[in-house]
Amino acid sequence: MKTPSAAPRVAVAIMAAGKGTRLKSQLPKVLHEVGGKPLLAHVIAAATRVVPASDVFAIIGHEAERVRTAVSATGINFILQSEQRGTGHALMVAKSALAGYDHVIVLSGDAPQITPQTIAHLLNFHLDQQAAMTLLSADLDHPTGYGRVIRKNARSAGVQAIVEEKSASPAQKKIREINAGFYAFSVPQLFSHIEKLSTANPHSEYYLTDMAAVLRQARQKVVVWKTDNSVEVLGANTRAELSFLDYQIRMRKNHEVMAAGVTIFYPATCVIDSDVEIAPDTIIEPFVQILGLSRVGSACRIRSYSVIRDSEIADGVLIRPGCILDQARIGPNAILGPYSHLRPGSDIGEAAHVGNFVETKKIKLGKGSKANHLTYLGDAEIGSGVNIGAGTITCNYDGVNKHTTFIEDGVFIGSDSTLVAPVRVGKGAYVAAASCITSDVPEDALAIGRAQQVVKEGWARKKRAAGKSSPGH
Ligand code: UD1
Ligand code: CA
Repeated sequence: MKTPSAAPRVAVAIMAAGKGTRLKSQLPKVLHEVGGKPLLAHVIAAATRVVPASDVFAIIGHEAERVRTAVSATGINFILQSEQRGTGHALMVAKSALAGYDHVIVLSGDAPQITPQTIAHLLNFHLDQQAAMTLLSADLDHPTGYGRVIRKNARSAGVQAIVEEKSASPAQKKIREINAGFYAFSVPQLFSHIEKLSTANPHSEYYLTDMAAVLRQARQKVVVWKTDNSVEVLGANTRAELSFLDYQIRMRKNHEVMAAGVTIFYPATCVIDSDVEIAPDTIIEPFVQILGLSRVGSACRIRSYSVIRDSEIADGVLIRPGCILDQARIGPNAILGPYSHLRPGSDIGEAAHVGNFVETKKIKLGKGSKANHLTYLGDAEIGSGVNIGAGTITCNYDGVNKHTTFIEDGVFIGSDSTLVAPVRVGKGAYVAAASCITSDVPEDALAIGRAQQVVKEGWARKKRAAGKSSPGH
């Protein structure tokens, strides 16, 4: 035994090995997304705010490599449960990994709304009570499907057992206090009794929930701590439950963002992923999606039907309706849209304008430069104060390789020009409308790359006259 004064060593084990049969999916359950990231990623984020990532263990099994890859960047540990024989079995396989700890907090990988506060509360209650097992419970209006908590009596925290829905009597099914699927265990107590679990139940699985009765029979202390915030414990076993969780998480995010000073009109239509950051005084119109790791500055306006993913938007940016941004960076006071498509690597400078039906990819557009209409700019470095005329195309691809177009400061590109890369237009130069530019244009020059215009006086009049006299007309 450790001396009581030493801080207890606490691990978190997240059960994430199940297949999620009820979702009818190729994707393992814990990788289904709510609020823009996998269920399991939400649980890991909460866990790592209570203990360091090095003390967090995800128990994986079904499609283990896929699950591991999806969340490996969090720095947590993994335990393989190659055959999934129930939640009790999941902890059996974790025995050696947890041997060095005094207590383990067990979380379900499919209940993403759990907060660090509730996990910490559960742990503190468990330590105060010096219990062998502490379970988290909540009162639900619709408890069907969850395990029910059978208390020793209504007034004490002592627990007799947990009964699963399938084994519950009609009287037990009326109990609204459910087992949330989150527990704290004393590690020595858990593993000295876990072998007593049996598979004598409708699923022929080892139920971790049966540890309540097992430990009781061994005269160990089993208690329950009930949270008032019952939404935190909701799991996702079906697609309908997933969509409900997603709705709740997104509405919570929208309210957080609004509380931080952002205006959202008609928030029920806006989709803002959990990790997005938005600064105050930005206005978001209906039907906007801001996804992934996007960051939006202050005093921006994002008009309807824009979809922004993994992008960085500075202060004072106006995004007109219907823009699509993916891994783009937008400088302060820039104006985009309507209907601009900014693909990965688009770096739009301060106060620059990108207008309707303009597509950009891997470009730098300098301060105050404008590409307002019907243009493709790919693999280009464009300086400041540049005017790109309507219908300009950078021909960046020769069928094998990509090449760069350089357009220096103050250049004027006339409408309907094609710039065949690699090519450079020097500072202050002009390119005449409808030019095909295949070689470099020196500084301050004018380049005209188009056929000479031919005018045939009276040609049209003569053609009409010839048509009238023709009998076959
Ligand atoms: C479980 C509880 C139930 C509780 C509910 C709360 C049991 C027997 N029942 O039921 O009392 O009310 O959670 O949401 O525990 N898993 C593994 N390995 C396995 C089986 C499951 O890692 O062999 C994982 C799953 O991936 C999942 C978690 O454990 O993340 C819970 O399993 P699940 O099958 O969803 O249990 P429930 O039926 O929801
Ligand atoms: Ca579940």
